[in-house]
Amino acid sequence: MEVVAVIAQKGGTGKTTLAVNLAVAAELDGRAAAIIDLDPQATASSWGDRRQAASPVVLSAQPARLESMLAGARQGGADLLLIDTPPHAERAALAAAKAASLVLVPCRPAIFDLETVATTIDLVSYAGTPALSVLNAVPWRGARGDQAAAVIADLGLPVCPNVLCQRVAFEHASARALGVQEHEPRGKAAAETQLVYTFVSNTLNL
Ligand SMILES: Nc1ncnc2c1ncn2[C@@H]1O[C@H](COP(=O)(O)OP(=O)(O)OP(=O)(O)O)[C@@H](O)[C@H]1O
Ligand SMILES: [Mg+2]
Repeated sequence: MEVVAVIAQKGGTGKTTLAVNLAVAAELDGRAAAIIDLDPQATASSWGDRRQAASPVVLSAQPARLESMLAGARQGGADLLLIDTPPHAERAALAAAKAASLVLVPCRPAIFDLETVATTIDLVSYAGTPALSVLNAVPWRGARGDQAAAVIADLGLPVCPNVLCQRVAFEHASARALGVQEHEPRGKAAAETQLVYTFVSNTLNL
């Protein structure tokens, strides 16, 4: 079982959106995916509760119980486990980073987000886990995505070459408790998600 932690110390960068959409992409790829939700806001758990489908399994947990939840997911046969983490919560983020073989850091190409990436990088390097930034909510026109990628790479964090653009499909899919690939299979958000998933699964040798 591969464990991926989704971490960003800033709120609203797209942690939960990335976690649920990668979990759905993995399921569509024939892998058993599960999500452990460490966020007391329980956004991913509510998404899971509202879903009609039995998978991916979403489990709400506290950092202290992460190890036993991971053991449960392993026994349950999960191929890919995503850990969604809360913002502004070092303890939860560190526990998730230590448990993971890869950390994904979603980041919007906006100055307030970029300013906080350094804090997230510090935390992840303390855990010693390989990490990758995924640019999210990138305007589909203009150079903001490329500029942000350059800033993040300069800080020493590798950047996924595939980005998720700012698209209402992400909001609409989450409102329906779906991934974008289920909500609008032929849409641009679905295609972008598939590219990010492929890059992540290749990075993990999934
Ligand atoms: N690529 C995107 N395009 C459009 N809307 C997006 C995109 N990514 C995320 N959003 C929206 O932005 C908001 C914040 O996203 P999300 O909840 O995934 O962030 P988060 O990092 O998990 O937030 P928190 O730090 O509060 O846990 C949500 O309303 C979500 O639907
Ligand atoms: Mg969240």
